[in-house]
Amino acid sequence: MTTQSKGLPITGITSRFYDIGSDLIGFGKTFAERIVQEAKLKPDESVLDCGCGTGTLALAARRKVGPKGRVCGIDISKDQLEQARTKARNNNLRIEFLEGSVDEIPFPGKSFDAVLSTLMIHHLPTEVKKGMFREIRRVLRPGGRIVIADFGPPAHYWGWIVAAPVMLMCLTHSTARDNLFNRLADLMSQEGLKVTDEKTIKEVVRIIKAEL
Ligand SMILES: C[S@@+](CC[C@H](N)C(=O)[O-])C[C@H]1O[C@@H](n2cnc3c(N)ncnc32)[C@H](O)[C@@H]1O
Repeated sequence: MTTQSKGLPITGITSRFYDIGSDLIGFGKTFAERIVQEAKLKPDESVLDCGCGTGTLALAARRKVGPKGRVCGIDISKDQLEQARTKARNNNLRIEFLEGSVDEIPFPGKSFDAVLSTLMIHHLPTEVKKGMFREIRRVLRPGGRIVIADFGPPAHYWGWIVAAPVMLMCLTHSTARDNLFNRLADLMSQEGLKVTDEKTIKEVVRIIKAEL
């Protein structure tokens, strides 16, 4: 499969201004800290961020697991990874950022206590989503947990109006339809992950928690 058929990499100018845009629409540092809280990360744990982008979530996770913990991030975009590495360096945080697709995670089995992923699954064709969930099952340790947060159907009818740009994007991008029709939890279950909790925050962001 080519990189393009694996998903939609964020590159160039979009990558350069990614953090500014994310902060503006409420998906920056505060959102990342909320997801870290949802994952109940503990000191010394080992964490993987799938589709880590510019590394905001990985940095928040790193602060939570402390110096003896381990945090890794993977993304298919070199540009996003470059931003992530610069941020980690500027913040004096040790994080391993690797290039790779989430359906071929470049780590051995049973490497992580927790796997996180924010706002990236809507970039993936259904088969790649399934591959990602299979790979997450492989790299998690027994008892390991997963927290994903991505666009989903609005919690209220007015969500279609207030989040119109996101909803329009979900409707026009075939890769986002699994999200819009709330199929992610089913796909996770089909790949052997035990879904433990689901909820919607920010009107259109679905948080799904699962474990092995
Ligand atoms: C909307 S961004 C989200 C980034 C970050 N998780 C966040 O919450 O800000 C989606 C990211 O997924 C990456 N991506 C797309 N397809 C991918 C794949 N198959 N494997 C790994 N990363 C992928 C893109 O390059 C981009 O950085």
